[in-house]
Amino acid sequence: MKNHELLSTLQSSFIGTDTQYPTVDGKRGSRIYLDSAASTLMMEPAFKVGHEFLMHYASTHSDLHYSAKGASQAFEWAHKCVLEFVGASEEKYCAFFAGNGATAGFNRMATSLSKIRPERDLVLVSEMEHHSNDLPHREHSSQVIHIPCMGEFESYGGFSMECLQESIQKYGKKINYVAVTGASNVTGTITPLEEVAKLVHSVGAYTIVDASQMIAHAPVCMDDADLDVLVFSGHKIYAPGSPGVVIAKKNLLNAISPSELGGGMVDDVSLAEYVPTNNLPDREEAGTPNIVGAITLGAVLDLLVRVGMDTIREKEIGLIDYTWNNLTLIDGVTVYGPNPAEIPRTGTISFNIKGFDHGLTAAALNDYYNIQLRNGCFCAHPYVRELLKKELWEVDLDPDDPNVEVLIERKRGMARASFGLYTTIEDLKKLIAAVSDLANRREEILGQYEPVGANGYRHEYYAPDAEDIFNPETALAQSIEWSRLQQDVNAHRTTKN
Ligand SMILES: Cc1ncc(COP(=O)(O)O)c(C=O)c1O
Repeated sequence: MKNHELLSTLQSSFIGTDTQYPTVDGKRGSRIYLDSAASTLMMEPAFKVGHEFLMHYASTHSDLHYSAKGASQAFEWAHKCVLEFVGASEEKYCAFFAGNGATAGFNRMATSLSKIRPERDLVLVSEMEHHSNDLPHREHSSQVIHIPCMGEFESYGGFSMECLQESIQKYGKKINYVAVTGASNVTGTITPLEEVAKLVHSVGAYTIVDASQMIAHAPVCMDDADLDVLVFSGHKIYAPGSPGVVIAKKNLLNAISPSELGGGMVDDVSLAEYVPTNNLPDREEAGTPNIVGAITLGAVLDLLVRVGMDTIREKEIGLIDYTWNNLTLIDGVTVYGPNPAEIPRTGTISFNIKGFDHGLTAAALNDYYNIQLRNGCFCAHPYVRELLKKELWEVDLDPDDPNVEVLIERKRGMARASFGLYTTIEDLKKLIAAVSDLANRREEILGQYEPVGANGYRHEYYAPDAEDIFNPETALAQSIEWSRLQQDVNAHRTTKN
C-alpha cells in the first residue's frame, strides 16, 4: 500500500469517531473529538494487534514456554519500533517503558539525574512546560531556573534562544540538564530541538525533551538532534492504555542507578545485597510490564513510520493554518500563542470568546454542537498565566466580593481545540462555525446556563440521559450476556454433532 493510501486508511480506522450523542436541539450526531492533546483515540489496526497478542498472552519474564517466548519477542519488537520512530540508533540509545505516561518518565529521570553530578545542582526549565516536566525537577534538584519565551500577552510563546543562551553562559558548568518541551500543550509552539541541544551541550549539560505533544504531530530524530533523553506518553499517540516511554543515551543510563527496584532488573539478590543487571532496558523495567499496551503502541509507531511523519506533519499544517486564519477573524475571539506563519506549531489551538468563561465555551460547544474539547490551564499554569496576563488585569471584579477567588478561576483558562490523525477539515469548519455562532448569540447562550460547583455549568433544560454516557456496569451486563449466548450456541453445536 502506498503511504498516502495507508494514511487515508488509518485516518478512517479509529475507534470512537462515530460515537453518537444528543444535542440541545434534540437531534443526535457523531461527536467531533478535538481533545487529542489530552488523549488520543485508539487506532483500530494497532488495537487489533494487541488483541491478537492476547490469544498468546503470557508474561515476558517466563522464559521457556512458547507463549512467553512470543511475548518476549513482541515486547522487544515494541522497543525497536520506538527507537526507529524517534530516529534513535540502537548502538547509542535505549528505550524503556515506564508507568502510565510521560509523568512517570520525568519523575524517573529527575530522580536519577539529580544523583549523578552533585557538583551540577542547577536545572533550566522552559516556562512553557507542562507541570510534569517542571515539578519533578523542582523536587529533585537544588535549584530550577525558568527560561522565558518570546513575545508578550496572548502571543507569548516560542522558546527564547537568547534567554537560554544567557543562562547557559551565566551558569555554565553548574547546569546538570535543561528540560524543554518539543511542542507546547497550550499553543502547540514547536521548539528548535537541534539548536537547543547544541547550546546545552556546549557546557556539558544534558537535554530532556518532553515529546508528549510532538510525538503524534511532527518528525523527531534523536540521532540528528543529538538529544540525551526524550519522554512521551503512548496514549498521546493513538494507543490509550499503553505505557509511558523514555528513550535515553545508553551511556547516561549506564551511569545512573535504577530508581525503580523489583523483579526483572537484578542479576542476583541475597539477604545482604542485590546486584542490578547491566542489561538495558531490563535494568530500567522493574516489575511485570504492560506488555499488551507496549505491543499496541509498537504497532501504531510501525504504521506511522510507514506513512512517514513528514507526510502527517504536512497534512496537519494545512489544518492548523485553516483554523488559525479563520478563528482569528471572528470578532471577540482571542487565539493564543504565536502566529503559525511565524513560529511552527502543532494542531493545538487555545482560544477564548469574549464574555464567555472558558468552561462555558467548552460546555456550550459540547451541548449545542457536539464538539468535545478541553478547557482550563492544561497543567501549565505559569505559561497560561503569562498568556492571560492582559485579560486578567482587565477583568471587572469586585476584590471585596467573597466569591472573587471562584469568579477569577472561571476566567483563568482557555478552551483548547487539539487535532489527531482523524481530524478533518469538515470538523474544523464546524468548530469555526460553532465559535462564530456562540460569539453572535452570547446573551442568549449565557442566559441558558447557571454555574455549578467550582467549574461546572448546567444548561436550563438540556441534560444527557444516563444511557448516553458510558457506564461500565451496563457494558459489563451486555458483555456477560454475550458470553452466555456464546456458551449456549457452543452447547447447541456440541449436542447437534
Ligand atoms: C506536554 C505534556 N507533557 C506531559 C504530559 C503528562 O502526560 P501524562 O499525563 O500522560 O503522564 C502531558 C499531558 O497532558 C503533556 O501535554
